[in-house]
Amino acid sequence: MATTKAVSAFPVRRQDFEFGEVPRYWVNGDAFMTHVFNGMSALFPDGERFFVASVRAVREAVNDPQLQKDIGAFIGQEAMHAKEHEKFNRGAVDNGYNLEALEGWTRKFLSVADLPGLSNKKVRLAATVALEHFTGILSAQLLRRDDIVESIDESMRNLWMWHCVEENEHKAVAFDTYKIVYGEGALNYAIRMGTMMLATLLIMVAIHAFVAELLRQDGKLFSGKEWRSGLTQLWGRTGMFKQIIPEFFDYFKPGFHPWDHDTEFLLKRYRKRMGFQSH
Ligand SMILES: [Fe+2]
Ligand SMILES: [Fe+2]
Repeated sequence: MATTKAVSAFPVRRQDFEFGEVPRYWVNGDAFMTHVFNGMSALFPDGERFFVASVRAVREAVNDPQLQKDIGAFIGQEAMHAKEHEKFNRGAVDNGYNLEALEGWTRKFLSVADLPGLSNKKVRLAATVALEHFTGILSAQLLRRDDIVESIDESMRNLWMWHCVEENEHKAVAFDTYKIVYGEGALNYAIRMGTMMLATLLIMVAIHAFVAELLRQDGKLFSGKEWRSGLTQLWGRTGMFKQIIPEFFDYFKPGFHPWDHDTEFLLKRYRKRMGFQSH
């Protein structure tokens, strides 16, 4: 009987942010890093709807009541993220940026999943698992890096902290769904690894291309100073991407599970800071 009363392991929090007074360079007062975050925001609405659709497409094959509840909460969280980032992206026009064009590029990147041979439920779910690993480790990195969190302007900080908390709360849902629906035989493991390599290539190309396009909109595309300082902040010794490389590669270990990276202490700290309930 207890299983029929399962509740999701994490809640869906309704949010309605106001983005009235966002400075032009709202991360570190720095064009490059602001555009890394603007670029990620341009990826989210369609990316997260893709994640939701790919999990929903196989949901009826999941007969674990706890995972069913968690899938419901995962869908709720991702839908809310897509809505809030879409609202921010529309507002970015006020600062003179066209993020809608970048959302169009995102749809083109995602259309790789429509190619013959890739267009099936398993590959789409595997791509979601891969990208959820990426968002999970990147958001944990942000929550761990007070210097980066504090460099985000107050007008935007709560949006990102909320999103990072929830990415960590639901980081294993797509992964567990894939395992339950398809199992982890050699072929399904290989599909998961192959889609991770393709997804990583696409997301890295996307983020750097989006930064380049936004720097172009700023008239700074050929500024060596911007690129040197920005690439150091991403890929230097303490770079935001450089530091997640070991966790990224953990994905390729047979037997890996997202909760092998224990981020519960970060969740506790940030739920308290944000005044969130754990449920
Ligand atoms: Fe999300
Ligand atoms: Fe997510």
